[in-house]
Amino acid sequence: MTDGLILAIETSCDETAVALADLDGRILGSYVSSQVALHAPYGGVVPELASRNHNVDLRPLVAHALDDQGVARDQLALIAATSGPGLASSLLIGDTTAKAIAVGLSLPFYSINHMEGHLLSPFIGGEGEIPEHLGLIVSGGHTLLVDVAGTADYEVIGSTKDDAAGEAFDKVGKILGLPYPGGPEISRLASGGRRDAFDFPRSMIHSGDFEFSFSGLKTAVLYTRKKMGAEIEESVLRDLCASFEEAVVDVLVAKTLAASRGRGKKILALSGGVSCNDRLRERLLEEASAAGCQCQVSDRKFSTDNAAMIAFAAAKRHQAGIAPDSLHADIDPNWKLG
Ligand code: KG4
Ligand code: ZN
Repeated sequence: MTDGLILAIETSCDETAVALADLDGRILGSYVSSQVALHAPYGGVVPELASRNHNVDLRPLVAHALDDQGVARDQLALIAATSGPGLASSLLIGDTTAKAIAVGLSLPFYSINHMEGHLLSPFIGGEGEIPEHLGLIVSGGHTLLVDVAGTADYEVIGSTKDDAAGEAFDKVGKILGLPYPGGPEISRLASGGRRDAFDFPRSMIHSGDFEFSFSGLKTAVLYTRKKMGAEIEESVLRDLCASFEEAVVDVLVAKTLAASRGRGKKILALSGGVSCNDRLRERLLEEASAAGCQCQVSDRKFSTDNAAMIAFAAAKRHQAGIAPDSLHADIDPNWKLG
């Protein structure tokens, strides 16, 4: 283990998260205080509630993480926080707290892009440098295909023109009357449904570029559901979920493999909350292998928002000799990767 530890904080949306790692990126502990139950009655994240709860939860969570790992403050060598993209009022709590700790302990500070955290998360637990690869990030706010040359060398080659994949799952969940967030619920119901029961659109699958669009698919589910009347059988609900999920997965897998061919990338990496989806994991692993590619998938506990991925990104930046960031920098709610 390289001397000194990293303390990382993530508060870009509705999860308050803290992690401790060593300077090689080995994760000692990852702590997430979820606000899902708090926002569920509203069917989505309420920004003011999120930031106020980060403010209440964050300091005890930092204290708990240090205590739980038996880490004294003088063992810390580096502080990191998510500084964007995300909800401004949520980002400010984590970013400011982390900077205050860095000032108090006279330690260097890394501003980490939340999407860089997701992007590198499939490599947590591995040794050495981040390999050249093609990353697919599928989260609640983003769907990105990223050509990665190495740490901090990223080119976004595709994104969504409208809804992100996770957003489509959550909106379809709402249309189908499922609890928030819709993604895990749809995924659960889809496992018992027929994937070919409804012929939903695979928008832009043959567009020849690496762009995505999921809003037409969401509207197709809405119209199909509306035609059915108020009550539907459980089996129909399962068929709707399975057919919707298959349409999303078809597009994500086809575009990722096309991008890997187009960019000559033999290593693929899947990350973000939607990478918890069993069908997506199974199909991408299968089809990548058939195409002679290796596919790294982030561990489920590092797929949805967490601070371990922020600590890991900071470790990789530190290892690559990238200078720490200024404590005077602002957060950036629209920070673009690369
Ligand atoms: O990465 P993440 O935790 O937060 C953002 O940065 O947005 O992703 C959250 C998204 C939500 O839209 C949620 O519905 C989706 O990940 N999600 C899933 C599954 N588990 C979480 N979507 C499909 N299938 C799942 N099993
Ligand atoms: Zn995220």
